[in-house]
Amino acid sequence: MSLILWAVFGYLLGAVPFGLVITRALGLGDLRQIGSGNIGATNVLRTGNKPAALATLLLDSGKGAIAVLLAHHFGVEAAGVLAGGAAFLGHCFPIWLGFRGGKGVATFLGTLIALHWPIGLTACAIWALSALVSRISSLSALLAAALAPVFAWALGRADIAMVAAFMAVLIFIRHHANITRLLNGTEPRIGRKQA
Ligand code: G3P
Repeated sequence: MSLILWAVFGYLLGAVPFGLVITRALGLGDLRQIGSGNIGATNVLRTGNKPAALATLLLDSGKGAIAVLLAHHFGVEAAGVLAGGAAFLGHCFPIWLGFRGGKGVATFLGTLIALHWPIGLTACAIWALSALVSRISSLSALLAAALAPVFAWALGRADIAMVAAFMAVLIFIRHHANITRLLNGTEPRIGRKQA
């Protein structure tokens, strides 16, 4: 399969909005009218349904990981980076939702774990540690996104550092409203239920 086909496959897989699918299936309302309006696990948690948030987290990260692993298995090394990056783009700009998608954090983490598990798990650890201390999901995501490319570069994986940096820039752009709230001190803590 050519690199372009792997990118298309990754994009289409990444474009599946699991948060929306799960919350609709469970009758939890329209996620885009709840909390931040984002389609990710943090916002699913604001519905008060923890299993739904966990399922969203696993499926949104899993789609990035599966895109990479399949591309690695059937393609070449470069296909994995491309498929994972495309899955991330699919999550942020899904064709099924008029290109208005999520912020990409779970897919970013899943993609990194599959590309190089020490880099991916380090990014997860940064997120988890920050979330434990701050209780703020967006701040933790921004920290993990900013540090992952640095860590990949330090490990001599310039290819992963580049795709991680590309995703990190988009994560910052997609979090512009969160960044404003962080600066204003009005960003909500993790798990606060919101109608
Ligand atoms: O993963 C998204 C998270 O960083 C922020 O989500 O819903 O608080 O905007 P949210």
